[in-house]
Amino acid sequence: MCGIIGYTGKGDAPGIMLDALELLEYRGYDSAGIALLNEGKTQIVKCAGRVKDLRTLCAEGKPVGHCGIGHTRWATHGGVCDENAHPHRFGNVTLIHNGIIENYRELIDKYHLEGQLASETDSEVVAAVLQHFYQGDPYSAIRRTVLKLKGTFALAIMFDDQPDQIFAVRNVSPIVAAVTGDGAILSSDVAAIVPFTSDYFVMPEFHVVCLKPDGVEMFDLSGDKAEIEWQKVDWDVSRSGKAGYPFYMEKEIMEQPEVIRETILPRIKDGMPDFSEEGIPDHMLADCKRICVIACGTAMHAGLVGKSLIQAMIGIHVDVVMASEFMYNDPVVDKNTLVIAISQSGETIDTLEALKFARKCGSPSISIVNVKGASIARASEHVIYTCAGPEIAVASTKAYTTQLAVLYLITARMAMARGIWQEQQTRAYINELLRVPEVLERVLSTKEEIHRLADAVLNAHDVFMIGRGLDYSILLEGSLKLKEVSYIHSEAYASGELKHGTIALITEDTPVIAVVTQEKLKSKELSNIREVQSRGARVVLLIKESETLDEGEQWSCVYRLPKMDDPFMVMPASVVLQLIAYYVSLDKGLDVDKPRNLAKVVTVE
Ligand code: G6P
Repeated sequence: MCGIIGYTGKGDAPGIMLDALELLEYRGYDSAGIALLNEGKTQIVKCAGRVKDLRTLCAEGKPVGHCGIGHTRWATHGGVCDENAHPHRFGNVTLIHNGIIENYRELIDKYHLEGQLASETDSEVVAAVLQHFYQGDPYSAIRRTVLKLKGTFALAIMFDDQPDQIFAVRNVSPIVAAVTGDGAILSSDVAAIVPFTSDYFVMPEFHVVCLKPDGVEMFDLSGDKAEIEWQKVDWDVSRSGKAGYPFYMEKEIMEQPEVIRETILPRIKDGMPDFSEEGIPDHMLADCKRICVIACGTAMHAGLVGKSLIQAMIGIHVDVVMASEFMYNDPVVDKNTLVIAISQSGETIDTLEALKFARKCGSPSISIVNVKGASIARASEHVIYTCAGPEIAVASTKAYTTQLAVLYLITARMAMARGIWQEQQTRAYINELLRVPEVLERVLSTKEEIHRLADAVLNAHDVFMIGRGLDYSILLEGSLKLKEVSYIHSEAYASGELKHGTIALITEDTPVIAVVTQEKLKSKELSNIREVQSRGARVVLLIKESETLDEGEQWSCVYRLPKMDDPFMVMPASVVLQLIAYYVSLDKGLDVDKPRNLAKVVTVE
C-alpha cells in the first residue's frame, strides 16, 4: 500500500513524479503529494484526493526542481486530509513512507514530540526522529533512527543540505531502484521504472541506498558499501497504457488469451508439463502428504480452484488458508506439507508472513507470483512466475486466470510425478489447457452479449451467485469482482446450503447468477435454481453450450459457455463473470479501475 517515487537527475522531477504517481495510484488513492529539493529549499505540494487533483495544484503552484520524492497514500494512521498526506517534513528532513510504525506513540513520548507534529501520521514521527539524530551525516541519522523503529517501512528521505540526493531504507515494504538515462529513480513498484529502463534492483532490507544524479550507491547498516544485484524487467513495455480501452480492467480482461499463452507455453515441453526452468524437482511434488495454499483475495480464490483440481486428480488433502487468518489458527504445517503461496504483487504482507512461518516449520514451498523479484518470490524455495504483465486495475482479472493456468500445470506435473497419470492422460489434459486461450477469445468476442446480461443486476441492491463444487469456487471470485467494482452487495453461496437460511433473502428483487458447468453436479444445481425461481428470483444462467435445457422452463437470461472438459470450465465462466462486473461498474458510471477504499498492493497487516 502507498506508492513511492523518487527521482534525481537532469529531468523535470515534478513531471516525472506526477506521471509515475498516476501509474502507482493503484497502491492507494486517498491523497497524493510531492516534495522538490532545490537549492537547499524544499517545496511540498500535497492534497487529499487523487493524483489528478495534485496535478491541478502543481499547475497552479508550478513546483520546479530536479530532485524530488512523491507519494500516493492508502490511509492507515490518521484520516484522509491534506495534513496527513505525504511528504512529511520535520526540521530539515522530508520523507515519504509506506508501512506502519508500530511504536510511533512511544517514539512521540521518548523524543518529546507531543504538540510539535503537524499530522496524525506515524510517518511524520519518523521524520522527527531522523531530525533528532541528524548532524550532517545522513547515513548515521538513518542508521540510528532505523534501530528505533518497530514495524514495516519503506522510506525515501531528503535532507535540505544534501543537494540532489535521495536516501532510502526499508524493512519488509518494498523499494526498487534504477539508473535512468539522465539520473536515478526509486519506487515501490517496478511499474514506475519500466518507462525508463529495464535494469533495476530490489533494495535489500536494512540497507541504505543513496540516489544521485549520476548513479546509485548502497551501504549496509554498518556503513560498508554493499554490492547491488541488478536484474531485468521482462515486461513488455508496449503493454503499458490503456491501448484505447476506457479502463485498464477491460484491457486486462481482453489480454487474457495472450497472457495465458505466455504463461503456459514455456512450461510445456513436447506436450508435457515441465518446471525444469524453475528448478522444481519432481520429488517435491511427489513426496508431499498434503498441500497448504496461502493467499489473499482473488489469489485465494485461485487457490480454491487449485484445491478442487488437486484433490480430484491426486487425491491428497489441500487446505486453502486466507493468509490473514493463517497465524491465528495455530497452523499445522511441516516438512510433509507443500506450501503454495499465490500472489499477483508478491508483496501482500499477510501472505509473506505466513510463507515465512511455514518455511520455519520446514515446509517445502512454491510461490506463484506475477511481479519478478517480489518479496514472496524471494522468500519461497521455488517460484513460478505468471506472465500476466503489469496489472493496473485494482480488481484482478488476468492475474487470476494466469494463476489458474499455473495450477493446472502443477496438477498435471504432480499427477505425472506420482505415477497417477500415464503419458497419454497427461497429454490429453495439457491439450485441453492449450485450448484455453482460443476458448477465451470466443467468449471475449461475445462481450456485447455479456454486456446485455449485466443489465439484469445493474440496479440490484443484492445479488446472489449460486453453484456447487468448482462452480461455487468460480462464483466466489465472480462475486468478489462484482462487489469490488460495482458496490453491489453480492454473495456467492453454495447452492445446496441456501435452504438452510439464506434463501429467506431471495425475492423478486434479488437477481441470482447461477453457474452450471460440472456434469456431475448439473441436476442438483438445476434443482437449486428452481428453488430460487419459485421464490420469484430472476436467474442469469451460465451453462455449457452442449447442455439442453428443459423447454418448459423460464430461462430469460442464459449465456452459453464454450464447451471444455469440466475442470477447465472455470476459465470461460470466470471471464464472463469478470465482464459482467466490469459492465455493471461502467454503466453505473463508477471509477472502474480505482474502486473506493481499495488498494492493489496490500503491504499492511
Ligand atoms: C488486494 C487486491 C486484490 C488481491 C489481493 C491479494 O486486496 O485488491 O485484487 O487479490 O490484494 O493480492 P496479491 O497481490 O497477493 O495477489
